[in-house]
Amino acid sequence: MRKKYVAGNWKMNLNLAEAKALVEGIKKGLPAGANIDVAVCPPFYMLVPLAEILSGSPIALGAQNCYFEPKGAFTGEVSAPMLKDAGCRTVIIGHSERRQYFGEAGDLLKKKVMAALANGLEVIYCIGETLEEREAGKTESVISRHLREVCGPDVSLDKVTIAYEPVWAIGTGKTATPAQAQEVHAYCRAEIAKLYNPTVAANVRIQYGGSVKPDNAKELMSQPDVDGALVGGASLKAADFLGIIQGALAAQA
Ligand code: PGA
Repeated sequence: MRKKYVAGNWKMNLNLAEAKALVEGIKKGLPAGANIDVAVCPPFYMLVPLAEILSGSPIALGAQNCYFEPKGAFTGEVSAPMLKDAGCRTVIIGHSERRQYFGEAGDLLKKKVMAALANGLEVIYCIGETLEEREAGKTESVISRHLREVCGPDVSLDKVTIAYEPVWAIGTGKTATPAQAQEVHAYCRAEIAKLYNPTVAANVRIQYGGSVKPDNAKELMSQPDVDGALVGGASLKAADFLGIIQGALAAQA
């Protein structure tokens, strides 16, 4: 059985004092020995001080992006070895905001995923359609294209979590219904079975993201192919994030 995985994507929010208070709150509220994976992904400059606070805790630290080159003249970028050095366990790659505002796609994302994995990081790889694409009946073709950008014989999914995030549900308060999420998650798993094999597909975790809140978390994560959540807005308050973790635990009970 796939263990649920709840990750918080803080995006470009909070200051260091608020961030420290938030991780302290999550640490305190996380039920001891809970059978769940939890990660927080703060902005780059908070990684090192938060790694200290999280040291020895089951909460993993993640980044929201990385560059594929290990070092050199790439002003403004942070590499996968640097994230590892900062104490990260994972990194989000291909978030729709990176695709939309920074033009990230295809080959670049594959290089980033490969660099992260080669440097011992796990990856949360984000995929998902816009409202326009959904309304034009292109959801499956977009999902399939996003998966194929990264998946293939040269990329093992052992350390990769897929995050299905319909762009129209991100930060809008419009959650996909559990049935809509399940439909796309099942499609993703079937595509992964085609790209790899049924065992890989059965083992890969697929998170849902897009306006996940404490009051919809359990229902979403009770769907057979929804293995967790990538949470934006509701990951910025300990009580809300812990409520989503409770929802995940209830869904897998
Ligand atoms: P949201 O963001 O929970 O605020 O909708 C999710 C995400 O972008 O990862």
